[in-house]
Amino acid sequence: MEKRQLTEFLAPAPLKAISEIHVFSQIDSTNAQAARLVENGLQGAQLIVADCQSAGRGRRGRSWFSPSASGLYLSLVYPFSITTDALQGLSLVTALSIRSAIQNLANDNLQLKWPNDLLVGNKKLSGVLLELCNDDKRTWVIFGIGVNYKLSEEQKLAIDRPVIDIQGILTETPSIEWLAGNIVNCLLENIDIFTNSGFATFRTIWNRYDRYYGKDIVVQNGTSARPGRSLGVDESGSLLLLTSEGVQKISGGEIFPSLREKSEVSKQ
Ligand code: BTN
Repeated sequence: MEKRQLTEFLAPAPLKAISEIHVFSQIDSTNAQAARLVENGLQGAQLIVADCQSAGRGRRGRSWFSPSASGLYLSLVYPFSITTDALQGLSLVTALSIRSAIQNLANDNLQLKWPNDLLVGNKKLSGVLLELCNDDKRTWVIFGIGVNYKLSEEQKLAIDRPVIDIQGILTETPSIEWLAGNIVNCLLENIDIFTNSGFATFRTIWNRYDRYYGKDIVVQNGTSARPGRSLGVDESGSLLLLTSEGVQKISGGEIFPSLREKSEVSKQ
């Protein structure tokens, strides 16, 4: 990743909002680096990108496979003065921002999987890991973004779920700097909207692209597995699940297609 080229793709507002950009050829995790910056008392929003990560972190304690030149590994650390509760929904907004950044170049159907995965035909294209750090004045949100960029067939097989990459969905593969710059531009624009109006503004668009809207799913959280029909998300970003006991609001967990939905998919 070339810092100068990345800077050229950033719009004026993000260039103003981000006080420093850190580019590493290798690091343990860009999210871990962002947390270290907070510990050392950073002042404004900062961006951290790396060509590869030796200890990339995924959601729910998983690791994120991060070989060199195969993915975009990026963290934006950004200060918020709203309450932690009000921040729910930001991770969904992050996935929507990745979608917006590439939608004009993609022929394929880019869909969202609650809370923050981007899928193309049931294969994962990107993931988001949001982490929070507090100092005495503010909450810093670390927006950790991983996008599969150019994975070899071997690398795809090394990942424990079906994956797809940017090279496989776009007619012309953009540079990694373009990808990073456009994602950051969309994310910062959406952070502004979110700060002013919350998640409610994003609800309709989220539900429009939700892969599992109206579908039978199972929501797994720890040892609990709740079956039901997805009714999409509410105005705070919680998942609405229609169960035999009525509609439940889910704020954490992971979606799996129901067995019936799974067999429909495998027939396609
Ligand atoms: C997921 O499990 O879907 C979330 C994956 C998030 C990976 C990104 S890569 C950049 C940033 N640094 C990390 O260590 N993780 C996130």
